[in-house]
Amino acid sequence: MPAATLEVAGLSAGYGQTHVLEDVSFTVPAGGRLSILGRNGMGKTTLMASLMGLTRRYAGSVNVGGSDITALGTAARARSGLGFVPQTREIFKGLTVEENLFTGLKNRPRQAIEEAYALFPRLHERRRNLGSQLSGGEQQMLATARTILGQPSILLLDEPLEGLAPVICDMLMEAFTRLADSGAMTILFVEQRLDSALTFAEDVIILERGRIVWSGKPPALRSDAAVLERYVGVGGLH
Ligand SMILES: Nc1ncnc2c1ncn2[C@@H]1O[C@H](COP(=O)(O)OP(=O)(O)OP(=O)(O)O)[C@@H](O)[C@H]1O
Ligand SMILES: [Mg+2]
Repeated sequence: MPAATLEVAGLSAGYGQTHVLEDVSFTVPAGGRLSILGRNGMGKTTLMASLMGLTRRYAGSVNVGGSDITALGTAARARSGLGFVPQTREIFKGLTVEENLFTGLKNRPRQAIEEAYALFPRLHERRRNLGSQLSGGEQQMLATARTILGQPSILLLDEPLEGLAPVICDMLMEAFTRLADSGAMTILFVEQRLDSALTFAEDVIILERGRIVWSGKPPALRSDAAVLERYVGVGGLH
């Protein structure tokens, strides 16, 4: 599937009676890169989950590549081209790396897993290891690669760098940049590592208590210490 445009309009969503997202609207063009910033608990994961149809929606719509997917369930949204790599890095701990990758192939031929090894050579070295034997960084590579093998047109990455060593973060960022540069997918990147988020993105939104409180280009945000301090929790970049 080629990269698709994502249009979110007036989305309000949450859990049961708990409203988390309020009137969230933004558009990411096909092949675009959006970083989503915000402090802990401000609704970043809820936004990703809502795009996947995993929350309760109260209002608004989600449109992928010109099709309204608002009424679709999670499996149908995945078939429509949304690929989600959750913050919890869900992999099968009792399966090998290679077996995990096979689960991501959908109906593609088995040799397509070579794409995952090209993106993350470390996974090839670890292909016979169990998921439970992987480091956090390797688990993130595996979770990402498995989603990529499904050839999503829109990739949702939820804090992929969380808790990882700088050298591993660099490997992941390089891979995400290569994916973005390939033009094969639109990428939404939730990340609290500000420098990585701003270096990666073409556009940025900041969530505060479930609302978009700032949107714009990375250079404008880098130079706005007041906004960074207020909504992201840092007074500037060092
Ligand atoms: N399953 C749930 N049921 C009820 N409330 C939830 C649920 N998951 C999250 N929340 C609440 O929704 C709000 C937003 O949480 P969310 O996980 O989306 O934030 P976040 O920005 O991803 O935070 P973090 O940076 O810590 O990952 C929080 O107040 C949280 O307590
Ligand atoms: Mg989160």
